[in-house]
Amino acid sequence: MTRGRLIVLEGIDGSGTTTQTERLVEYLRQQGHTAVSTREPSAGPIGHLLREVLLGQHRMPGGVSVDGRTMALLFAADRIDHLQREIEPLLAAETDVVSDRYLMSSLVYQAEEADREWVALLARGVRPPDLTILLDIPVELAAQRRLLAGRPEERYDADSYLGRVADNYRRLARADASVVILDGSASRNEVTAAAVAAVRARFAFPATP
Ligand code: TYD
Repeated sequence: MTRGRLIVLEGIDGSGTTTQTERLVEYLRQQGHTAVSTREPSAGPIGHLLREVLLGQHRMPGGVSVDGRTMALLFAADRIDHLQREIEPLLAAETDVVSDRYLMSSLVYQAEEADREWVALLARGVRPPDLTILLDIPVELAAQRRLLAGRPEERYDADSYLGRVADNYRRLARADASVVILDGSASRNEVTAAAVAAVRARFAFPATP
């Protein structure tokens, strides 16, 4: 039986993963595939809680933010929930799923706030994506884009933090042949063209007439 493909867009906040996720779904549909977009934190209960935590809505007494280990466990739990609730049923129904963030986000963001090896352990046995596309972009440009888009300040938005996350992304991507690195600082259309080319190459789509 054939299954859908799991394609993931990754990158630091402001790298354009949300836009390119939607555009890839559009492309897949144009090619005659059934495709849907999804994202992490997911639309499920743990994803909902995570979005509140990211916005600083659940402080400890004294204003201290939620511990990094707790974040790692919540993201890992949200992923299992996301897989069971949305991704697995869709893939089984031969639907392609394009996710705005997935496993790699945990490996690069939580590695900076909890023990790296323990974070990697939590990722063990989780379904790997069929293709991950990393949008690599300078931290300063990503910050400008977030500002222009009027996005609220979130937990991981400090340039110093995102600089380390960006390094982690590059390091992991270079060591993993299933990840394609694209220049996220290019125009939206250029990035979409490169992402489409990466999908076509990975899945050997026939040339369009
Ligand atoms: P983001 O993807 O920017 O979503 P929104 O557009 O709704 O703000 O925010 C999600 C944040 O969560 C982002 O800072 C990355 C972080 N994150 C992790 O730290 N670990 C994870 O496993 C995931 C999925 C996200």
